[in-house]
Amino acid sequence: MRFDVITLFPELFAPHLEVGVTRRAYAGGSLQLKLWPLRDFAEGNYRRVDDRPFGGGPGMVMMAPPLERALSAVRGARAQEAGEGEGEGAAPRAPLIHFSPTGRKLDQALVRELAAGSGAVLLCGRYEGIDQRFLDRHVDLEVSLGDFVLSGGELPALALLDAVARLQPGVLQDAASHQQDSFEDGLLDCPHYSRPEQLPRADGGVDAVPDVLLSGHHGRIARWRRERSLEITARRRADLIEAARAAGRLSKEDERFLRSLKLDATP
Ligand SMILES: C[S@@+](CC[C@H](N)C(=O)[O-])C[C@H]1O[C@@H](n2cnc3c(N)ncnc32)[C@H](O)[C@@H]1O
Repeated sequence: MRFDVITLFPELFAPHLEVGVTRRAYAGGSLQLKLWPLRDFAEGNYRRVDDRPFGGGPGMVMMAPPLERALSAVRGARAQEAGEGEGEGAAPRAPLIHFSPTGRKLDQALVRELAAGSGAVLLCGRYEGIDQRFLDRHVDLEVSLGDFVLSGGELPALALLDAVARLQPGVLQDAASHQQDSFEDGLLDCPHYSRPEQLPRADGGVDAVPDVLLSGHHGRIARWRRERSLEITARRRADLIEAARAAGRLSKEDERFLRSLKLDATP
């Protein structure tokens, strides 16, 4: 799977390639990342990529021409690598994803969709944003990291790449690990504990690991985890409980447990 990133700050991506589990996705070849510094496609002595907005107002806008040149270089390189044109009869054209607070919020469903595909071209905005004519012409999907404003699209691009990388086969040491993550089965994850069993507190007492986790009883541990997961989801994200219920993902036992919590969201 190949991702091409058009950015003014390619150096922001280096740590992602070099550390942690995501490094494995690149080293193992399941993910390829090609960075396209937008400045390389600017013209003139100053290599300008932005200009003032028509109509006035604060800030600068990323101009369309350098972006057109960058995108066409990306499309050309992808076509060459595939040994064919990206046009008719060729492999499907990689979608162009633009990061913007106005886009579809990034969630695990979208991550899974992208992780199962063959990659995408990621476009990172800066300043006030990108000339709308370029976006109208080329963008297939706008993605937001959340309801807040960052100074650029690089962090959202990294978030997307990281989430996609950890779903690649062989990246997580235990393949089952991501299956119990939040959102994988529509619920939030349960709490986790590790050594020591007794964690001393400042008041002289200890915080102990829940007994059931030390019992060695797999069935009871699984049920305890399921109930913690149901409880945290019901308390924090009642919308996810509703969605899980609508999708038929809650057992009778789950429903009984939810009723026992006596929260407003439970029927
Ligand atoms: C300062 S922001 C521009 C914000 C834009 N004027 C607005 O209010 O929607 C610069 C760039 O950062 C990126 N960005 C900022 N916040 C984002 C978010 N929540 N999700 C995705 N991208 C974001 C976008 O690429 C955007 O073009």
